[in-house]
Amino acid sequence: MTTPRPKSTEDIAERPQEASDVNRIDHVVAVLSGKGGVGKSIVSSLLAVSLRRKGHRVGILDADITGPSIPRMFLPKGTIQLDSDPLGILPATSRTGIKLMSINLLLRNESDAVIWRGPLIGRAIQQFWTDVVWGELDYLVVDLPPGTSDASLTVMQFLPLSGALLVTAPQSLAGMVVHKAAQMAEMLQVPLLGLVENMGYFVCPDTGKSYEVFGPSHADELARALRVPLLGRLPIRPELTQLSDTGRIEDYPAEEFAPIVAHIEANAQAPRLPPFTIDLKGV
Ligand SMILES: Nc1ncnc2c1ncn2[C@@H]1O[C@H](COP(=O)(O)OP(=O)(O)OP(=O)(O)O)[C@@H](O)[C@H]1O
Ligand SMILES: [Mg+2]
Repeated sequence: MTTPRPKSTEDIAERPQEASDVNRIDHVVAVLSGKGGVGKSIVSSLLAVSLRRKGHRVGILDADITGPSIPRMFLPKGTIQLDSDPLGILPATSRTGIKLMSINLLLRNESDAVIWRGPLIGRAIQQFWTDVVWGELDYLVVDLPPGTSDASLTVMQFLPLSGALLVTAPQSLAGMVVHKAAQMAEMLQVPLLGLVENMGYFVCPDTGKSYEVFGPSHADELARALRVPLLGRLPIRPELTQLSDTGRIEDYPAEEFAPIVAHIEANAQAPRLPPFTIDLKGV
């Protein structure tokens, strides 16, 4: 019988002490638009769902601190209970095994307001990266809030992004704002993976006829101007609204995401090393 070796200080030093000791995340993909309400959270969620269906280990970091929507899309209302761990915060896990972290998972009520100034928002996002026990992931999808200020800046400066997926809608106002987001990403040296147009059209279930409800698409034009590939156009689907409102987004077939996922698998680069600063010379 062998007597167990007494624990040396070296053993203790090798033991994981914090979340970053066990986290191994291969690709971090930000989903951004600049414009509010165009479907960033829907696209983030369906991207994660589609990557998961292909067998990848996937997480979603909800970087929208004041308007978080990821838990509502994945988890039935009232079932959220985060476990703690000596290494850090354990993320929630969706039905199909997607790891989720959002400020709403830490609030007593999902409708409680978070009224924080920029620095606090930035710190929360950084902690979602450093203090959450993500473990080993192939892809971490980061759902950004609208705008090009604090939260987006923190994500682009401090997270080791592999690239960013841009989301637009048919309205030309959306296109104009997406330009700003793309410009910000470029200034912070975040590679642009491609453009997705959401709510581009509606197919009438009775007639099969397609209607461009918000007017003609500008997605091709916008993709050309931004020099990025147009990866897909998503229709308006009432069942998508319903599923995403009731924690059942993983039931959506999301066949439109096949080319988007294939492109990301082929093109998402290794994470670049932060922090990045903005070069304001060109502004
Ligand atoms: N293609 C679609 N078909 C049907 N409903 C959609 C579609 N895309 C988005 N929606 C609905 O529109 C609303 C806004 O979408 P979403 O929350 O993804 O936008 P967002 O860009 O993340 O908004 P915010 O700027 O507030 O973060 C949601 O209620 C969502 O369910
Ligand atoms: Mg959102």
